[in-house]
Amino acid sequence: MTDWVDVGSRTEIMRKRKMVVHVDETDIVLFTHEDRIYALADLCVHKQKRLSRGLLFKGKAICPGHQWAFDLESGWTDEWSVCQPTYRVRCEEDRVLLDPEARILAEKPAATG
Ligand code: FES
Repeated sequence: MTDWVDVGSRTEIMRKRKMVVHVDETDIVLFTHEDRIYALADLCVHKQKRLSRGLLFKGKAICPGHQWAFDLESGWTDEWSVCQPTYRVRCEEDRVLLDPEARILAEKPAATG
């Protein structure tokens, strides 16, 4: 059974557009895109730069380290066979709940953009 963690107000997260939360010793960055909230591990799988210091471009999280572009939903990059851990997010009224179990998709989705 999933122990969902309350990570904040949806209104506030949507207003800030990007926010880092600390859950179970892990920094997780929340990005908003097209009225949805996505969660990825903040430390990049490549060289541990913080995705939260990067930006969103065409629905991808761009790492400030070497500009790898991570798909918000799957965590996969377009350029490399590497997957950034992601987390499931759901909303209950104005609360945002996060599943602290990291997901690493074993296979790259057919189309990440
Ligand atoms: S540290 Fe993120 S792409 Fe290199």
